[in-house]
Amino acid sequence: MSHSPVFNVSPETLSRTRVNASQYAQMYARSLSNPEAFWAEQAQELLEWRAPFHKTLDWNFHTADVRWFEGGKLNVSENCLDRHLATRGDKIALIWEGNEPGDTRSITYRELHRAVCETTTLLRSLGVKKGDRVAIYLPMIIEAAVCMLACTRIGAVHTVVFAGFSAEALRDRINDCGCSLLITANEGLRGSKTIPLKATADVAVEECPSIRNVLVVQRTDAPCDMRPDRDMWYHQALAGLSGADDSTPEPMDSEDPMFILYTSGSTGKPKGVLHTTAGYLLYATHTFRYVFDLQEDDVHFCTADIGWITGHSYVLYGPLSNGATSLMFESVPTYPDAGRYWDIVERHKATIVYTAPTAIRALAKEGDEYVTRYCRDSIRLLGTVGEPINPDAWLWYHSVVGEGRCPIVDTWWQTETGGVMISPLPGAIPTKPGSATRPLFGVQPLIVDEQGKELLGNGVTGRLCIRFPWPGMMRTVYGDHERFRQTYFSTFPGLYFTGDGCRRDEDGYYWITGRVDDVLNVAGHRLGTAEVESAIVRSGAVAEAAVVGVPHDVKGQGIAAFCVLHADFSPTNDTRTKILATVREVISAIATPDHIWFVAGLPKTRSGKIMRRILRKIGEGEYSAVGDVSTLAEPGVVAEIVQLVETSRATKK
Ligand code: WTA
Repeated sequence: MSHSPVFNVSPETLSRTRVNASQYAQMYARSLSNPEAFWAEQAQELLEWRAPFHKTLDWNFHTADVRWFEGGKLNVSENCLDRHLATRGDKIALIWEGNEPGDTRSITYRELHRAVCETTTLLRSLGVKKGDRVAIYLPMIIEAAVCMLACTRIGAVHTVVFAGFSAEALRDRINDCGCSLLITANEGLRGSKTIPLKATADVAVEECPSIRNVLVVQRTDAPCDMRPDRDMWYHQALAGLSGADDSTPEPMDSEDPMFILYTSGSTGKPKGVLHTTAGYLLYATHTFRYVFDLQEDDVHFCTADIGWITGHSYVLYGPLSNGATSLMFESVPTYPDAGRYWDIVERHKATIVYTAPTAIRALAKEGDEYVTRYCRDSIRLLGTVGEPINPDAWLWYHSVVGEGRCPIVDTWWQTETGGVMISPLPGAIPTKPGSATRPLFGVQPLIVDEQGKELLGNGVTGRLCIRFPWPGMMRTVYGDHERFRQTYFSTFPGLYFTGDGCRRDEDGYYWITGRVDDVLNVAGHRLGTAEVESAIVRSGAVAEAAVVGVPHDVKGQGIAAFCVLHADFSPTNDTRTKILATVREVISAIATPDHIWFVAGLPKTRSGKIMRRILRKIGEGEYSAVGDVSTLAEPGVVAEIVQLVETSRATKK
């Protein structure tokens, strides 16, 4: 068994912390023995309610029905803004760091409240009502936060689409949930690139019959086409309100939908993960406070884009609901060079840095000088999310970025869970590099074998499930409750199945080993193998494709595509380019395969099922571990593929 180093909590951290080891143990025990009382208390303490709830929890994991805080009424934007005005009106809510270093803007709670009220009035004037769906396709700019909050003020359901997604991806998301409004920008800036957001949105909206209006934020001076009957500039529309105010927050039921966020699953098209008002907000608020051991003077720098759940929960809702200062970063970690994050930390005196292992690995490669050049004295806590972190990257983050004095919270969670589920609490739980350590309050993880039998005790490896609801869990797949039930509650009846493999070590610490289903995690981005395969086939050149994840030293996982070409295409660079371009067009550049291997046939069982296990082993370079292939329809293809991959790798080196 491995003996991982254990990093104990330093006295310096302890002196600042709210929860120590014995308090954690006590609180955790209580959150399990009486979850309803625990969460009812948290809900009353952490949120402001318009009307109290009368039933804390109602649930059934067989039918996939979960309801929290029924009867309660509240409004998200009121919780994130209005309630802080008396005590924190002049506190900075958001610090924005633009694409160019030093291009910054800060906005206080009072100013943000005003901006949200104005946008609420504008959206209402465009006919947006409670329950309507609004698509947001914006870069990381303050307007994105304002528009999301304005939706919650009205009770409109936002669906934020990452600004790196293609026109097709945007179109499909808008159509899946029937958005009436799209908010975008003329252009986005990411490093030395400009992203033609409005032009992409125009292509998408061509085929979106539900869209009535497109609001366009002017991010740069670049012109863009405007269709007079549909499109309007955001700043002009706001100016046109001439002081009108229609910004009263809508009192929402606890279980009213709050937002939809699309994420990839193991089959078919991305699914619309639906989160509801009270449970999501409470969970984002609670986990933000405890995981990051929130202090009043914190400057929280979460590097995630608001197009992902991490941006929703820990750039926006968690911090603002707690009245904290949150930093939004528009650009990429390597622009203009690999020191950018630490430059930002120094200039804005960030106290918490929360980023992804892929960014840590990419920056570590560039050398320590990019880090040590800047003062990081302000940092007191480091966090990671999105994929397993390898101990080397963890140790670099700890010793170089954190100078050995900052605890690291390795936070395991998912779009579906709404907030962090397994993570150390700084000050309470000693850490081990690579382990997310222990469950948070109210989280009841268990590990099962492939048949669903619970593996008791420590030192076990299997599949990670959760046996009891938590407030932040998704409530359904938008428009398809049966898919929700099937995906998460049917593999192991009565349990929520995460899709992740997991080990519980001798000390009861959890180590997430990665997905056990057909979901890839490329640089922290989730992609379904089926999604990438169907994009590849759309190129017209490929008759059949099988996609697997392969180890990648920066991205964690890279994409390898085994492609059988149509007879009239040959395995040339042109064909390759055509395939890559199609994938970018259908999904996004994040789905671009790292390897395309043209093969004569795929390994299949006699019933025609592709044996991905074999392809995965080949992709990992473990050619001898492919196992018994004699039961395949055509066992010969395996040796051919191995030879092709070996040759292709040898010539690349
Ligand atoms: C993986 C991101 C190991 C995991 C918040 C999960 C992690 C998927 C960790 C969800 C972690 C996330 N350690 N693996 N700390 N955090 N994952 O929906 O496989 O984009 O199922 O949510 O990322 O990705 P998603």
